[in-house]
Amino acid sequence: MIDFKDKVVKLIKNQINLLSEEEINSLIEIPPSYEMGDYAFPTFRLAKEFKKSPNLIAQELASKFTEDENFEKVENAGPYVNFFLNKGKLVETVLEEIKVKRDEYGSSNIGQGKTVIVEFSSPNIAKPFHIGHIRTTVIGNSLNKIYKFLGYDTVAINHLGDYGTQFGMLISAYKKWGDKEVIEADPINELLKLYVRFNSEAEEDPALREEARYWFKELEDGNEEAVELWQWIRDISLQEFNRVYDLLNIKFDSYAGESFYSDKMPRVIKELEEKNLLKESKGAQIVDLEPYGMPPALITKSDGSTLYTTRDIAAAIYRKETYNFHKNLYVVASQQNLHFKAWIKVVELMGYDWAEDCIHIPFGMVSLEDGTLSTRKGRVVFLEDVLKKAVESTAKIIEERNPNLENKEEVAKQVGIGAVLFQELFNQRIKDYVFNWDRTLSFDGETGPYVQYTHARATSLLGKGEFDLDENVDYGLLKLEDEVNISRLLYDFPNVVLDACDKNEPYFITRHIVEIAKTFNKYYNSTPILVDDINLKKARLSLVYSVKTVIKTGLGLLGIEAPEKM
Ligand code: ARG
Repeated sequence: MIDFKDKVVKLIKNQINLLSEEEINSLIEIPPSYEMGDYAFPTFRLAKEFKKSPNLIAQELASKFTEDENFEKVENAGPYVNFFLNKGKLVETVLEEIKVKRDEYGSSNIGQGKTVIVEFSSPNIAKPFHIGHIRTTVIGNSLNKIYKFLGYDTVAINHLGDYGTQFGMLISAYKKWGDKEVIEADPINELLKLYVRFNSEAEEDPALREEARYWFKELEDGNEEAVELWQWIRDISLQEFNRVYDLLNIKFDSYAGESFYSDKMPRVIKELEEKNLLKESKGAQIVDLEPYGMPPALITKSDGSTLYTTRDIAAAIYRKETYNFHKNLYVVASQQNLHFKAWIKVVELMGYDWAEDCIHIPFGMVSLEDGTLSTRKGRVVFLEDVLKKAVESTAKIIEERNPNLENKEEVAKQVGIGAVLFQELFNQRIKDYVFNWDRTLSFDGETGPYVQYTHARATSLLGKGEFDLDENVDYGLLKLEDEVNISRLLYDFPNVVLDACDKNEPYFITRHIVEIAKTFNKYYNSTPILVDDINLKKARLSLVYSVKTVIKTGLGLLGIEAPEKM
């Protein structure tokens, strides 16, 4: 595909030797509207050396460009030199590229030979997998796909919260009041009940806390009964979580959670000691982070048991040694900002220069319309229930709109789940957002079903028009403004994917495919595609094919499926 920006750089370089190609490249801007050109080169930077006003420089520069096959015209406007693409070239180069690359269009090999760890989801076992977990799960899954698409070797890790004092409580509680059968019938709710009961009784009877600590220590020391109970709790919890992962079609490469590091912590503690980083404070071992304006990092408690922070340090070292990662990403809520800043600082103080490759990717909160994550009765909203409700509601809509659709159930699943994911990935990560059923499931506007529907519509057109990818196309026939605008968006897609990766922001892709869908629907509503003129029909269908392909790829990178019919 022609790299038009690079062409602009070369043209400018021919005129101004003073700047390097990289400098020119970084100065080039995209004008706010196409009427002002496709690329703009600002001249402020040159005023000093040229001892002329930026406007004059721009004027002189613009007048020097001679005809070039890639550009329709080059004009100056104030201190800018504006480049207008040759639209025929643009349309041809992008459609031809998509024709050749198909669903690989937008992919690259920039990541070749580099491993990126994407840690996401990481729920706590024996606790509900609730709507609050949707963000890390969905954002992380998408990032994992984006990195893979760009050629990185990715490792998707679910760092399960399967260790810590709370398991001491659960073991104690189970031994006192637990009933295996009752729990296995409804694991998470029953384990939660035990946990809540233990906590409330411990208010009256502080000895219970002591007992819980004892059991956690036993667990850490490998007491058979404790380990067996813990293993069982972990297994039944994971079974519950896996139902959600199945619905979302999410797979992990590793479930190495907190417990996985239990035997790797003595080494960390020893190393911290040897590097003179540990200090005693009221019987506990800490790393003092006051010089960095942070509270101390807690490494061991007074009874010697380890903490969340210790396990994160051990995990990072293990991951570096095991995977030699290029980047180690943590998709975790912004509430944990300080936790990540602190332990990454400790790793840095230990002398590991790769500490800077451990990157916390924070995100804001999701809440329900009444402002909470819980129902009015105080019960948390399970993620599984939300997803199932989305599928059921979609099934109803399909029943009304298209009762004869084949594969109705499968499509309802793809669209219902897709709708939730799309909403989730529509905004900048860090923004809080309110989950809204009506908006999520709407088939109009900036929603998943709308984009999926556009894809299905394009697919159906290709079928009706008996489109054949191998036939030659006269791209010169695609001259309408909408056709050019669609081509522009398709042309930008690979860069959007790169930006999404660079900023770890899947929503760039979400927004871009909505834009493609909108522009395409406008075109579709005003322009006949299956026209009698066979060459024109072929050309238009090749555009339709490209739209369909890019939307499908884009949805795929968000973890959303693209049904052919809906
Ligand atoms: N299990 C934790 C929680 O639910 C999240 C774990 C985040 N990952 C990490 N490496 N600390 O809050």
